[in-house]
Amino acid sequence: MIDPNWLAPFRHFTSHSPDETLDFGRRLARALPRPALLILTGDLGAGKTILAKGIAEGLGVASAEDVASPSYTLVHEYRSAADTLYHLDLYRLEQNEQLATLGLEDILPGGVAQGSVVVVEWGAKFPLFARLPRIVVALTATGDSTRSIAAAFEEGRE
Ligand SMILES: Nc1ncnc2c1ncn2[C@@H]1O[C@H](COP(=O)(O)OP(=O)(O)OP(=O)(O)O)[C@@H](O)[C@H]1O
Ligand SMILES: [Mg+2]
Repeated sequence: MIDPNWLAPFRHFTSHSPDETLDFGRRLARALPRPALLILTGDLGAGKTILAKGIAEGLGVASAEDVASPSYTLVHEYRSAADTLYHLDLYRLEQNEQLATLGLEDILPGGVAQGSVVVVEWGAKFPLFARLPRIVVALTATGDSTRSIAAAFEEGRE
């Protein structure tokens, strides 16, 4: 049984460096239920990919230096014996029709890849994700090296 308050320690965080954001990602990943859909929001350079690197390390599926944003391939997959992480970057995707061609139904919660963690950069504009229960992690630059990070559950609309 998952403690319904597991997200409480992550609701608000101030990061003072990329390393602190990495570490926030590691801790968040270790607390995550499965399956989990995380939508990372924030402007260019807000720290979404750094956070995804920390999540990969916290899950034990890859080290930070092996995680690069899937800007052109759109999806990267990392596996350990226990976990699979799908890291999406949809910045270059413009339309829902293009999203449909990615075959995401298998990896999203309810799909066949049960137990996986899906992390999406630039996913907020696609209705597909708004239909699903998800955790939205919003990163905001508040200075050269400071970031405000807020995490919240969002219900699916269906
Ligand atoms: N506290 C911090 N947390 C995260 N990144 C920081 C922080 N302070 C400075 N930075 C810098 O901000 C940049 C964040 O880059 P990153 O690629 O993670 O952003 P992004 O949100 O994924 O951008 P994009 O939308 O282009 O994918 C890095 O250059 C990093 O060094
Ligand atoms: Mg990025």
